[in-house]
Amino acid sequence: MVDDWRDPALAQRWTGDPAMFNPLRAETLDVLLTAIEAVFEPGKTLLDMGSGSGLVEASLFERVQHAQVVGVDRSEPMMALAKENLKPFPFQFIQVQHDLQDAAALAGPNSPLPRLTYQIAFSVQALHHLSREGHLAVYQALASILEPGGWFFNLDRMAVPPQMFDVYRPLWARLERTHGFGPDEGGDYAAHQAMLARAGDTPLAVTDHLALLAEAGFTPTILHAYANRALIAAKKN
Ligand SMILES: C[S@@+](CC[C@H](N)C(=O)[O-])C[C@H]1O[C@@H](n2cnc3c(N)ncnc32)[C@H](O)[C@@H]1O
Repeated sequence: MVDDWRDPALAQRWTGDPAMFNPLRAETLDVLLTAIEAVFEPGKTLLDMGSGSGLVEASLFERVQHAQVVGVDRSEPMMALAKENLKPFPFQFIQVQHDLQDAAALAGPNSPLPRLTYQIAFSVQALHHLSREGHLAVYQALASILEPGGWFFNLDRMAVPPQMFDVYRPLWARLERTHGFGPDEGGDYAAHQAMLARAGDTPLAVTDHLALLAEAGFTPTILHAYANRALIAAKKN
């Protein structure tokens, strides 16, 4: 069955152990927050696409005090957990319930987003459920929402090129040595594809992200990558 973030049991389980299938989560979140800290201008607003249970915000508010985030998500149970997790920061987080499959509406005249100056947008482990067209629509919406020179950071799983699967497998196994556990990405490419299908994941190749971001009006680069996890930074042209 495809993972459904609107299932309260999945929301609870994942929020209780977000690194369950991703031993690199803590390290890559630290890289993301370091990058955000470097460019954030106090008084401006951040936008989180797929804010879930607010775990990224909880870390962000510890490091970038007084930052304000508008978080978009469609899952009621994840949003309820965010409300709980972010109780210590009552004035810094605004939630907007919206389906990212209709990203264009976020930039349209009836946008549900509060009218604020969005300097930075980010997304963590959320966009890989979207199609290629869906990713482009998100990037185009962000290009319209962000202020000139604004930033977008996307930390997510990437597609594994089929002919290169054998070079990824030992890198996942290596994580068991370095972190004590590794992700279950499947023993061969067919098993990997089946795992993605079960989870409803449709990740894009990192080269596709770069091309779509450029098409939408950003200058993109890769800030951090390990096997099929990457942090992409993009600056609005
Ligand atoms: C793995 S969780 C990550 C949450 C958060 N970014 C974090 O890293 O802690 C993925 C989140 O993306 C949200 N999401 C996935 N597809 C979505 C869509 N089409 N529209 C809105 N939210 C979506 C889910 O509801 C879920 O809260």
